[in-house]
Amino acid sequence: MKILVINGPNLNMLGIREPEIYGNKTYKDLEKYIYDVSKKCNLLNVEVFQSNHEGVIVDKIQEAYFDRVDVIIINPGALTHYSYSVRDAIASVNIKTIEVHLSDITKRDDFRKKSVLEEVVSLRFYGKGFLSYEEALHSLINKN
Ligand code: DQA
Repeated sequence: MKILVINGPNLNMLGIREPEIYGNKTYKDLEKYIYDVSKKCNLLNVEVFQSNHEGVIVDKIQEAYFDRVDVIIINPGALTHYSYSVRDAIASVNIKTIEVHLSDITKRDDFRKKSVLEEVVSLRFYGKGFLSYEEALHSLINKN
């Protein structure tokens, strides 16, 4: 099973940005965590990608179609709340997509409560820090 993990704007600032919300671990730690969990789950074809740019993320989702990616796990950062182009890209490629967030977006600012991706993703995990990614990966076990 080919898996693409996409992290959106400002996630590269983990460990620096608002540690009271996102914790002290860095983006490098998150990458390592995702690769380690994937290995333990025997999910061996995993790419982790990060960009601060909406269009680059749209390009990456489109490329996933041509690269025959089976599953996208995406933490779109703030794009979650307003990016119709990311939503349309996900709808275009018809690849199973799981939305993840470190924080509990349902219990923060009002503008974070709405995900414009909600209707085009199959599953959503949020509010558990790095574990949100682990739950997304675990949901794929025995399905490859
Ligand atoms: C986030 C939540 C978003 O509201 C925020 O803009 C982020 C991170 C999370 O992982 O909790 O950048 O997606």
